[in-house]
Amino acid sequence: MHFQNYLGKSFRKQSSYISHLVSCVKNHVSNKYLYTTLLMGIFISVNAQQRISNFDKGWRFSLGEIPEAKEISYSDGHWRQLSLPHDWSIEGKFDKDNPSTPSGGALPGGIGWYRKAFSLPLSEKNKNIFIDFDGVYRNSKVWINGHYLGIRPNGYISFRYDLTPHLKYGNEKNIIAVRVDNSDQPNSRWYSGSGIYRNVWLVKTNKIFVDHWGTYITTPQVNEQVATVHVETRIRNTFLNDPKKILIEYFIYDEAGKLISKKSSAGRSSKIFGAAEQTSAKSQIGFDSQDFSISSPVLWSIEHPYLYRTVTKIIVDGKIEDEYATTFGIRYFDFDADKGFFLNGKHIKIFGVCNHHDLGCLGTAINKRAIERQLEILKSMGINGIRTSHNPPAPELLDLCDKMGFIVMDEAFDMWKKPKSKYDYHLYWDEWHKKDLEDQILRDRNHPSVFIWSIGNEIPEQWAGKDGKDSSGTMIARELADVIKSLDPGRPITSALDHPDSNNAIYLSGALDLVGFNYHHQLFGDFQKNFPGKKFICTESVSALQTRGHYDMPSDSIRRWPERWDKPFKEGNADLTCSSYDNCSAPWGSTHEETMKALLKYDFASGMFIWTGFDYLGEPTPYPWPARSSYFGIVDLAGFPKDSYYLYQSICTEKPVLHVFPHWNWKRGDTVDVWAYYNQADEVELFLNGRSLGTKKKNGDDLHVWWRVVYEPGILRAVSRKEGNIVLTKEIKTAGKAAKIILAADRKNIKAGGSDLSFITVKIVDADGNLIPDADNNVQFSIIGKGTIAGVDNGSETSMESFKADHHKAFNGLCLLVVRSTETAGTINISASSKGLSSSSIILNTNK
Ligand code: GAL
Repeated sequence: MHFQNYLGKSFRKQSSYISHLVSCVKNHVSNKYLYTTLLMGIFISVNAQQRISNFDKGWRFSLGEIPEAKEISYSDGHWRQLSLPHDWSIEGKFDKDNPSTPSGGALPGGIGWYRKAFSLPLSEKNKNIFIDFDGVYRNSKVWINGHYLGIRPNGYISFRYDLTPHLKYGNEKNIIAVRVDNSDQPNSRWYSGSGIYRNVWLVKTNKIFVDHWGTYITTPQVNEQVATVHVETRIRNTFLNDPKKILIEYFIYDEAGKLISKKSSAGRSSKIFGAAEQTSAKSQIGFDSQDFSISSPVLWSIEHPYLYRTVTKIIVDGKIEDEYATTFGIRYFDFDADKGFFLNGKHIKIFGVCNHHDLGCLGTAINKRAIERQLEILKSMGINGIRTSHNPPAPELLDLCDKMGFIVMDEAFDMWKKPKSKYDYHLYWDEWHKKDLEDQILRDRNHPSVFIWSIGNEIPEQWAGKDGKDSSGTMIARELADVIKSLDPGRPITSALDHPDSNNAIYLSGALDLVGFNYHHQLFGDFQKNFPGKKFICTESVSALQTRGHYDMPSDSIRRWPERWDKPFKEGNADLTCSSYDNCSAPWGSTHEETMKALLKYDFASGMFIWTGFDYLGEPTPYPWPARSSYFGIVDLAGFPKDSYYLYQSICTEKPVLHVFPHWNWKRGDTVDVWAYYNQADEVELFLNGRSLGTKKKNGDDLHVWWRVVYEPGILRAVSRKEGNIVLTKEIKTAGKAAKIILAADRKNIKAGGSDLSFITVKIVDADGNLIPDADNNVQFSIIGKGTIAGVDNGSETSMESFKADHHKAFNGLCLLVVRSTETAGTINISASSKGLSSSSIILNTNK
């Protein structure tokens, strides 16, 4: 099958784009052509911004059950004031007795209430006004001015309510109240967070408008010369009497904002609203579409994620009633049963990662910069794919993947009708699964980064019962695939199967376009024999276990921890660490190197999604409490890479890599294994205090080289060479006594406004700047000026310290401070001190 899509995302916020354009115009751009383009941009953006505005500021919050809080008359003056997105669990204390359990992150859940008062001008009386929630964990109930609007159990789905019939205008205030109930736990196998943890938007439209997620853009044909673009619009009409003359106009802009095509549906108004589509006396749905032919399209790719934009305008009796923008990309792709994955005709291995949605010390409260930072870290490691395990992600993640060039597997469910934990989504399955899946597809189907739909992860229904008679997995898989195909026939569907057998009930449904294996790299070689003619993707792989900066020797013996998933774990280290040589994994998984070798071996293996890119809160396999976050990440919870990061970088990127580890602070006479990951070289030579310890080359399918060394303090030096010429040199020195703190900000200039972040790495070093590999000094932060502390962390899986404090201990030499801008612009002075160390400071600037 050939999958061709011309895809986009609904328009969000464009204020920075507008101000940039305005300043260009103010600066008297002389080029007439550019000027026209800019004006067009301003016109579109201003309208689009009026249509949708961010609704995150000015909320009040209170923890606990307060039934009266839904009433308009309730007085919330004593509640805490805050801005969304907000996750109340991350502010709590770790406790093994919290009902979330350590597997859920051991943080508190409960019930929380949010309220916001807002007013609307009289001039908006004729508008339709909606509130859009990107995600609320979970069981949210919403009231406007005391009127109940509804419940949404699924904590990961985006949803809208129509506020129009219940609103007040002029001097009278409106009160929106939201009750969030995350008290029934466990309901998740990982940390879920609690609250209105994604963005909220207010949408104001005229009486006739493009419906919620109301565009669908596909490309029935794409090649380098020409692309056919099909734009479909769903229009909602709430005029009491039929509009007579409707004109739908379509504009397509390239990435620079230049208009490249325009069409209108004049004279077709009678077709837009047919009697059959009448949904109620007050609302009708109609459809309109146009086809475009775009010559020499710039194709969206991982390296060059080029985005177009379409604007749909609805014009009634000569007046513009609505304007709706959708960003999209043009590309074609193909999964081949023998050769794997092709994007725009080019063969690509998908080196993807699975991630859960928490952002470390920020909890699940989404922050676009925090997601962008994660993606930057992954991109520079060579990762080109993201699996949104195991739920629909925040829309911003997909926007960023569109912009940065990632291949996304957009996943719907972690369970269907059969439970994985007592209070999980299975309770709501019958009533909600169809609606939730439809909404996910409608929301996400225009994103060029979305390539694969996954209908579920390790769904218990895949096991057809001992007698093979339970066919529920087959039936549900078919139903879900039908839902998806009815809304988006162009993308392949998979399901992440941990029972990779042709008797798998989900596989037997015939509903999967791609057969997805979770783990089982030993069976990759038999795939074509066991699943003849089928296309293969490894939906989840590896599950290696590593603590950043900790090393267990001998490095060539592999620990499978725990011995079995259902057996108590008796081995392990007293300090609850796992080794960062690639020599520790869960028994159902493998080391990084084991699966990578299998993936590289077979062309038909289109790619894999490694469990996981980042450590996440919860699921601290293999350890019990007080471990409370995962060891699976290639990058730790604070965003610091573990050594395997460089294994991937050496294979998946073109940049020259030489990474040598471990640290060089051991006991004289110890036997220490030294590993190196390298590329673009034939060999690596290792020196200790100037003496050569030998030259090593990767043999066969090896992905690293190593030496067994008798330790003496000093300088370990590695040199990679190609054809005798030095490519890279790396040195690790024995660190002396901890002497000072070093601060390094990922960005020193950030945006004012209360959401941009600077991530500051805190290093404990000796007098010469060498990292102290086991430093755990407590670092005290002071921050003055236009910033606040958004969080602190050190990547330890067992720390009981708060993420929301002004101090934190280092872990294996490192610690992280996350600083958030305030509303107003200015400077932020940050200093870090610790007993016995010289302090350090740094200045950040924030700009409007
Ligand atoms: C998989 C599962 C993931 C995670 C992982 C840990 O089986 O799909 O959600 O639990 O194991 O190794």
